[in-house]
Amino acid sequence: MANIKVIYGSTTGSTESAAQKIADALGADCVNVASAKADDFNAPVLILGTSTWGVGDLQDDWQTGIDLLHKTDLSNTTVALFGLGDQDSFADSYLDGMGTLYEEVAPRAAKIVGKTSADGYRHSASRAVVDGVFCGLALDDVNESEKTDARIVEWVKQISEEMA
Ligand SMILES: Cc1cc2nc3c(=O)[nH]c(=O)nc-3n(C[C@H](O)[C@H](O)[C@H](O)COP(=O)(O)O)c2cc1C
Repeated sequence: MANIKVIYGSTTGSTESAAQKIADALGADCVNVASAKADDFNAPVLILGTSTWGVGDLQDDWQTGIDLLHKTDLSNTTVALFGLGDQDSFADSYLDGMGTLYEEVAPRAAKIVGKTSADGYRHSASRAVVDGVFCGLALDDVNESEKTDARIVEWVKQISEEMA
């Protein structure tokens, strides 16, 4: 669907790969935030993805993307989030980048869809856990890459139902 835009930031390609799979499943446009324009954020449905770098930092290319996002009127926009990280090596900052995106959009978006259970993950702290659940799809291609495809399929089904 052309009215769904997947916008992602990715340093080594893992988030890009997940973004492409999500976009393909939904028939959505897929845009690297590094080359995103203000107009890319003007879509009825935004699916935003980021990995986490440093200790709990948003993926680098989101630095300019977040400014564009900040200037976007989200009052009629449905938003879903996905994040990639490493729950073992960065157990105290797992998916913090997704949490940062959530903090940016949650107060302004018409609706947030795609929250998921944190059960079965091994992290000890995450900014992406809000009220006991992940604020979006939680992926870990470092330790559980074999689970990624099934998690994406399940999540795409979930958000499709929540948006219906
Ligand atoms: C130096 C470094 C710092 C990282 N920091 C975090 C972190 O704080 N939290 C986390 O969940 N993952 C962290 N990661 C894991 C990456 O987010 C993970 O490898 C991810 O799949 C990268 O996705 P990308 O290639 O799309 O950028 C870090 C990885 C590296 C190499």
